[in-house]
Amino acid sequence: MERVPAERAVMLKVNGEERWVHITAMERLIDILRYKLGLTGAKPGCLNGDCGACTVLVDGVTIKSCIRHAVQAIGKEIVTVEGLKGTDVQKAFIEHNAFQCGYCTPGFIMNIEGLIAKHPNADEAVVEDWLQSNICRCTSYQEIKGAVHAVLRSRKMPE
Ligand code: FES
Ligand code: FES
Repeated sequence: MERVPAERAVMLKVNGEERWVHITAMERLIDILRYKLGLTGAKPGCLNGDCGACTVLVDGVTIKSCIRHAVQAIGKEIVTVEGLKGTDVQKAFIEHNAFQCGYCTPGFIMNIEGLIAKHPNADEAVVEDWLQSNICRCTSYQEIKGAVHAVLRSRKMPE
């Protein structure tokens, strides 16, 4: 007989709100966000950690929510794209036409929020390296890089 994993109610802090949800030990964070909390910004792509479409921030660090168990996020601050309201990164994506179909966009935006928080003075090489973790099948890479550099220039910290 198939073993049914026990569910338990846990509180996850998402976008500044305390959300109670029933989870099992093996459930992925992306599935809890999308299917139990109604936050569909994190997109399922490869579901094996390669494409970055599912990227969210946990305690300020970018993670791929398809390869993270939801239980690992208990007691931490989770931010999804729904938690960002009109940030300069989002505006830069619009101004630079940095998307076509838009499927990869939430993941890129969350990844870039993480990049700028960690490397506010990132140079070309750091940006290039950081963006390796996300894939855009519409190949909007030049526009995405343009958006990142525009935000970095506007936020430039004194050396
Ligand atoms: S869906 Fe998570 S990395 Fe592709
Ligand atoms: S804009 Fe279509 S996958 Fe990136």
